[in-house]
Amino acid sequence: MLSAIESQEDVSDLLLIFVDIWSAEAIYDIFSLLQNATCLLVKNDVTKKVSGYAFYKQDLRSGFTEIVDMGVVSYFRGRGYGKELVREICDRSDTGVRLYVQEDNVIARRMYEVLGFAVTVTVPNYYIVGLDGLRMEWRRP
Ligand SMILES: CC(C)(COP(=O)(O)OP(=O)(O)OC[C@H]1O[C@@H](n2cnc3c(N)ncnc32)[C@H](O)[C@@H]1OP(=O)(O)O)[C@@H](O)C(=O)NCCC(=O)NCCS
Repeated sequence: MLSAIESQEDVSDLLLIFVDIWSAEAIYDIFSLLQNATCLLVKNDVTKKVSGYAFYKQDLRSGFTEIVDMGVVSYFRGRGYGKELVREICDRSDTGVRLYVQEDNVIARRMYEVLGFAVTVTVPNYYIVGLDGLRMEWRRP
């Protein structure tokens, strides 16, 4: 079940899964994301709890919708939630969707490829020195 942030409980759930997915230190990143991007949540149909999220925004220069961050809580992975989030953002985009992914993030890369994304640029040391970023793009047919 996809939704926007609808309540304070959604925000609390989001903070909890964000720490599970990334780390306690990463929690500071979410406040900037909440201010600067649109948040899409996926909730478990039974518990109605937030199980994954994606932040996206329109890049005015390129015309692409950019997924700036996304993740699914570890115990709900492999159920299609990641694909559901990305598909919905593609559906909402008039032109296309782009994102950056760590070159060594095999699972995320596979997910984007399955959904029709292709690598367009490799950006050396995009994340930290020695860790490249891949720009992946999906274009509306
Ligand atoms: C990447 C991530 C969002 C995928 O979420 P998910 O809900 O588990 O993904 P789905 O169940 O929708 O699976 C999507 C695809 O990912 C791939 N995938 C999922 N789990 C996988 C695994 N254990 N091994 C290899 N590929 C896997 C598959 O291609 C799958 O598609 P398929 O089932 O049609 O083969 C999740 O693993 C995650 O949150 N990772 C940590 C955060 C992250 O890397 N975010 C992306 C930043 S760019």
